[in-house]
Amino acid sequence: MNDMKVPFLDRVTVHRELQEELVGIFKAALGTAGFIGGPMVQEFEQDFAEFCEARCCVGVGSGTDALRFALIAAGVRPGDTVVTVPLTFIATTEAISQAGGRPDFVDIHDRTYTMDSEKLRNYLENECTRDSYTDQIRNKRTGSPVTAVVPVHLYGQMAEMDPILELAAQYGLKVIEDACQAHGARYYSKKRGNWRAAGSMGHAAAFSFYPGKNLGACGEAGAITTNDEALAQTCRLLRDHGQSKKYFHDVEGYNGRLDAIQAGFLKVKLRHLKKWNEERRKNANHYNELFAGSNGCITLPYEPEWSRGVYHLYVLRVADRARLQKGLEAAGIHTGIHYPIALHLAKAYEGLGFRLGDFPIAEQTASQILSLPMFPGLSLDQQRRVVTEVLRIVTDMHRSTLDKDNASAA
Ligand SMILES: Cc1ncc(COP(=O)(O)O)c(C=O)c1O
Repeated sequence: MNDMKVPFLDRVTVHRELQEELVGIFKAALGTAGFIGGPMVQEFEQDFAEFCEARCCVGVGSGTDALRFALIAAGVRPGDTVVTVPLTFIATTEAISQAGGRPDFVDIHDRTYTMDSEKLRNYLENECTRDSYTDQIRNKRTGSPVTAVVPVHLYGQMAEMDPILELAAQYGLKVIEDACQAHGARYYSKKRGNWRAAGSMGHAAAFSFYPGKNLGACGEAGAITTNDEALAQTCRLLRDHGQSKKYFHDVEGYNGRLDAIQAGFLKVKLRHLKKWNEERRKNANHYNELFAGSNGCITLPYEPEWSRGVYHLYVLRVADRARLQKGLEAAGIHTGIHYPIALHLAKAYEGLGFRLGDFPIAEQTASQILSLPMFPGLSLDQQRRVVTEVLRIVTDMHRSTLDKDNASAA
């Protein structure tokens, strides 16, 4: 039996390949002791803004910082409701709470796993009311003003932005893209008649450079992109204790700056991102081809014609996820689950009063998804082995279900 192990992610090879350049950045920083701010941060910000086709980029300490600062700068105030999806990493909702907001949810689309714009429409039309005095939208149940929406570009695929932006405009909501998994993803905007980059469509967007991301730092890092210079300037204040100049604090802010060394590393790696994203797309195509004709027990990722995803993750859906994951682990194939619990059911949000059944698509998806190995440099042989093992295990599962059915019919 072929016993080649397949890791979920290979973070080592790329750093080995870029070692000389990365060490050069580190040495340069040691030489000047310029660890905070300075040209490395500014140069990376410029390059990343250009990559995202956005006017401004503000480097910060993490994706969570980026979301929090973007929400505050966009005008979310304590007590406001911010609408997002239940299938995301908890940082999305943590940032909403940390901005003083109350997270609320609309369900996801059952094929793209991103925000279902029809559910958002339904939420705004039926669960909210317009205050005739202030013209503000309020949640009927809580009375809280709904001021922003956070679509999450999950697994490297953008949410369907045209209808979300249209609803946001109609109801006066700010749109903050959670692009933490989607560096370089694109969306075809029918409204604008062109392909748009993640981070260029909302009022602002948040990116994470956590090491496992498509563009990862060698530590923690994140960035906000926006076309709104005033919003960018507020984020610059927020990341640096509200200082407009040293010890002149215009507002109370945070310690949320991007390290100069991380900015230097990111600038080096950004030059390779397009190629790495193309490799991920090629890997996804290989998986799709290798799985073609599988017996219907698995659901493959769905990429609508309006999307060019960057496959941060390649996610299958299968009824008996635990059995598939266990079988793959035994065969030396490492997988992940992103994420096992829809957030409205997380213990942390017990106090919000949601119940099982509130967002059925997200709940069922969370119980069935499995992320397969996906990274640039994943070989075709490795992919063949993954697919062979997945098909072997799901065929066994299918057979044992048929056997059980036959036994109970007899
Ligand atoms: C969808 C999503 N949002 C937010 C974040 C938060 O980013 P960070 O870990 O850099 O704070 C992540 C990162 O894991 C993420 O995947």
